[in-house]
Amino acid sequence: MSLSLIAKSIKPSPTLALNEKFAILKEKGDPVIHLGGGEPKTRVPMEAIMATVAHVNTGEVRYAPADGIPALKQAIIRYTEEFYDRKVTPQHIIASSGAKQALMVALQAILNPQEEVIFPAPYWVSYPDMARLIGAIPVPAPAEDGTFYPRLKDIEDRVGSYTKAVIINSPNNPSGAMYSEEFISDVVQFCEKKDIWLIMDDIYHRLIFDGRKPINAYKYAKKQDENSKMIIINGVSKQYAMTGFRIGWAVGNKKVIEAMSNIQGHQTSGPSVLLQKAAVGALNGIQSSVEALRVTLENNRNVMIDLLHSFEGVKVTKPDGTFYCFADFSVYNKSSNALSAFLIDKVQVLTVPGAEFGLEGYLRLSYCGTIKDIQDGIERMKWALDPNSPNELYIGDRKLVRDWS
Ligand SMILES: Cc1ncc(COP(=O)(O)O)c(C=O)c1O
Repeated sequence: MSLSLIAKSIKPSPTLALNEKFAILKEKGDPVIHLGGGEPKTRVPMEAIMATVAHVNTGEVRYAPADGIPALKQAIIRYTEEFYDRKVTPQHIIASSGAKQALMVALQAILNPQEEVIFPAPYWVSYPDMARLIGAIPVPAPAEDGTFYPRLKDIEDRVGSYTKAVIINSPNNPSGAMYSEEFISDVVQFCEKKDIWLIMDDIYHRLIFDGRKPINAYKYAKKQDENSKMIIINGVSKQYAMTGFRIGWAVGNKKVIEAMSNIQGHQTSGPSVLLQKAAVGALNGIQSSVEALRVTLENNRNVMIDLLHSFEGVKVTKPDGTFYCFADFSVYNKSSNALSAFLIDKVQVLTVPGAEFGLEGYLRLSYCGTIKDIQDGIERMKWALDPNSPNELYIGDRKLVRDWS
């Protein structure tokens, strides 16, 4: 079939494929555990639900401005003041269908085909394909010292005449690493000096642990307002557990936001007004759910890390934030795809292969589910991988028997 070159270059999202797999196995009644998920399971804030219902009840659910309704922009203005100490206007903001679309239209607004976008590795699965969607070139930058904490040199070494943008995602999906103030300051100043766009993907910025405080990249910027080439991405998906509402946003200079809005206007005419109302409800409502979620995730992280330490040879870096742990399982299998498939097949535990995030030998394990899922999931993995495990494992009344060594 004569599909476009771009279509042929795009892989399906591995994390979305895993969600589908989970749904199919669950539907069949299989006792599957999802340690590959990317969404908190806490309840959506009541204010978000009430705002949506109130708008539905008006019976007037129509087109809205392509770049976001004024009430949502006002809520984002307040958010930006509170967390970034920066005063912006509605013209500096676009609301999109998820942080994913905000990122996508940002890349479409700034990158030409063949231009390059650099991001530290491991990276969020979508960055490379987002770049490819516009014919641009993704350039992953693994840290030279083998850690999850890049240094400026790791970025600098990959900058060339085609470099147009850098994406920084901290705390990071999949590693959970929160980059240092020093690194963020270095990158901000470097991008300004080189006149490169800097996209800060801050979708997890408040989901951080051990007393850390969110980092505000604006603090290190010398170029302000219309000269700034920094774009901040955020949204309600993770911090308010509102993944299905699909509302994210970007803050940037007026020109880039206008370009992004023009693009988005032709793509989707903007996010649904109902879901924008929900985001307004969440952003303006009582904020205790965010802190409650953060505390739950920190506790879940501690439980998962303790359990992972019982695996011989598995290297674990304690996550500083997010709800992911990225552990090196290469001692069991050098191929993360093969290992992930083995774990689904033998013990019905879903994990995401590290190869999808640009680091082979690792598995991404999520701790956004229940403690029971974390404990049972890791116990099953241990049973499957440890050659000294007993020959049998019971999952409910199902008996699993090891037929591998
Ligand atoms: C690093 C990162 N950026 C952006 C997104 C997209 O968020 P949203 O669901 O709001 O589109 C995700 C979702 O997993 C993510 O992990």
